[in-house]
Amino acid sequence: MQRRLELQPRLQAIADWVRPGARIADVGTDHGYLPVWLLQTGVVEYAIASDINESPLEHARRTSREYGQQMEFRLCNGLDGISPQEADTVVIAGMGGENIASILERAPWTREGHMLLLQPMSKPEYLRGFLAGHGYRVTRERLVRDKGVLYPILEAKGGSMATPSPGRLHGGIALASDPLEGEYLSSLIGKLSRAAQGLRQAKDGRERAVELDGIVQELEKMRKEWENANCSAD
Ligand SMILES: C[S@@+](CC[C@H](N)C(=O)[O-])C[C@H]1O[C@@H](n2cnc3c(N)ncnc32)[C@H](O)[C@@H]1O
Repeated sequence: MQRRLELQPRLQAIADWVRPGARIADVGTDHGYLPVWLLQTGVVEYAIASDINESPLEHARRTSREYGQQMEFRLCNGLDGISPQEADTVVIAGMGGENIASILERAPWTREGHMLLLQPMSKPEYLRGFLAGHGYRVTRERLVRDKGVLYPILEAKGGSMATPSPGRLHGGIALASDPLEGEYLSSLIGKLSRAAQGLRQAKDGRERAVELDGIVQELEKMRKEWENANCSAD
């Protein structure tokens, strides 16, 4: 009997949002676990695994052999080697927010009906700002805890949305009912307050420190709203 692949919580949360029957492109696939799991469980029948580097793509080939699943492999930068008709769902996970944004910028066709599942490891605020300013709409967002770290996952499509406030860029556009949002906001408040504190000591850091103070204030307001909506008074 074929062995069953188990996904870590971060990848499982992304997989849970893939529509049954979707044709997926997993950009920056590395080990290839996500497309192999989706094929193995029958959620999808067609998948492309791509990576900019040969060695991770070789890892994905090994995973697909090990679990007996067939898929396409592409060695390319972002979506450069994938045409719009080949996939209706594009996953870009485990990379920095700026890298994800630059991959989308090189492939404007991703605004034309494709479902995007994006999981930034850093600078999610940059990615949210990019999406809002480049003809995308964030349709869903969620947080997942994996090995003690909270990761945001965004679902986006072509469309328009109001420019998010600085607090929303950092704290999430559509996370208000997420059970982990309070914790996420608290950790951002701590991180940005410490950054502002450091900047206040630096020679040219005052202006940015004031900017960060404003973001922290907005995040504190968002946390209060989240607490009012999600915590019952005992
Ligand atoms: C940390 S791994 C993430 C693997 C998997 N997507 C995940 O979330 O677990 C990042 C992968 O993205 C690839 N990568 C980075 N920039 C890329 C780009 N512009 N185009 C395609 N792949 C890229 C790297 O080679 C690496 O294999």
